[in-house]
Amino acid sequence: MSKQHTLIMPLDMHLHLRDGVMLETVAPLTSYTFSGAVIMPNLVPPVTSKEAVIAYKERILSACGYEMQENDFMDEDGLGGGDFEPLMTLFYQNYDEGFIEEIQDEIFAIKLYPAGITTNSEGGVKSFDIETMRPTLEAMERLHIPLLVHGETDGFVMDREAEFMSIYELLAGNFPDLKIVMEHITTKAAVDMLDKYANLYATITIHHLLITLDDVAGGMMKPHLFCKPIAKRPEDREALLKIALNAHPKVMFGSDSAPHPQDKKEACGCAAGVFTAPIALQLLCELFDDHGKLNNLQSFVSDNAQSIYGICPEFKEVTLVKEAFKVPEKYGNVVPMYSGETIAWSIEDVL
Ligand code: NCD
Ligand code: ZN
Repeated sequence: MSKQHTLIMPLDMHLHLRDGVMLETVAPLTSYTFSGAVIMPNLVPPVTSKEAVIAYKERILSACGYEMQENDFMDEDGLGGGDFEPLMTLFYQNYDEGFIEEIQDEIFAIKLYPAGITTNSEGGVKSFDIETMRPTLEAMERLHIPLLVHGETDGFVMDREAEFMSIYELLAGNFPDLKIVMEHITTKAAVDMLDKYANLYATITIHHLLITLDDVAGGMMKPHLFCKPIAKRPEDREALLKIALNAHPKVMFGSDSAPHPQDKKEACGCAAGVFTAPIALQLLCELFDDHGKLNNLQSFVSDNAQSIYGICPEFKEVTLVKEAFKVPEKYGNVVPMYSGETIAWSIEDVL
């Protein structure tokens, strides 16, 4: 019999679902195998109001085939009904305290983008002036709302994340009770930062555990592997692998699955984002199995996030099997990572 592995309540702690037809295409692919996902707010326009958060959550649940029930957002166990919970985020701006108090029950976290650094981030933060940001960050700290950060400067593309470390230090040092998540880390510099501050955490994608810049641009240019932050050097990938495979307790899986239509990727001016949602768990099983670390995968894809955020997801049990799976060429008009290639693990069953 083929080797099997069961994961309980997998969570994707960083996910782009988009809107409209794209949302209808991609949302069910995640809700099928994940118990919950942290939903990024970089729509056009970005999600910056209570009404927008609530309406977007409704559209997500409806795209997954669930209807929103009254008061379902936060029930006793901290999560809503159905077997997939979209954990909603608000797009960071310097909001006043009253606004944050009013919206706190509708959001899971606030996501900060430096202005213009990635897809649909133009409305993000232009200057990291701590005094300007203080009222917002202090309110978040007081109300226990985590801050999720896209940590890149506008410097040289390979150095952007490492250059951002001084801003993480500023944020973590000034707001010691604020839970700060360094999203989709790609460098040894970020790995080294993790243990310097008790209030710093990180998410890691599957693609950054598998590829380096060589895979993106070392041979023929691979637009479907192009994303922000860009994949880095082998020693960076090694540092990421070490903490992911050993399920460092401050690290969580966040796919950063970021679908774009095929014509926006295979274009002169390729949009940044790798689409991995439907193959993420299969690839994680393959990677952890190849390193003899399958026993640590449960912590990386669920348990660490549950402890870090204090959440208790809806029950779901996903059994994977070591049997070849041919990745579809496309899902709708989105080309996934490893399109048309065969990967080693498949989804066997979801309960
Ligand atoms: C993301 C997107 O397309 O929204 N792109 C990406 O390359 N990761 C935005 C982001 O998370 O940077
Ligand atoms: Zn992202």
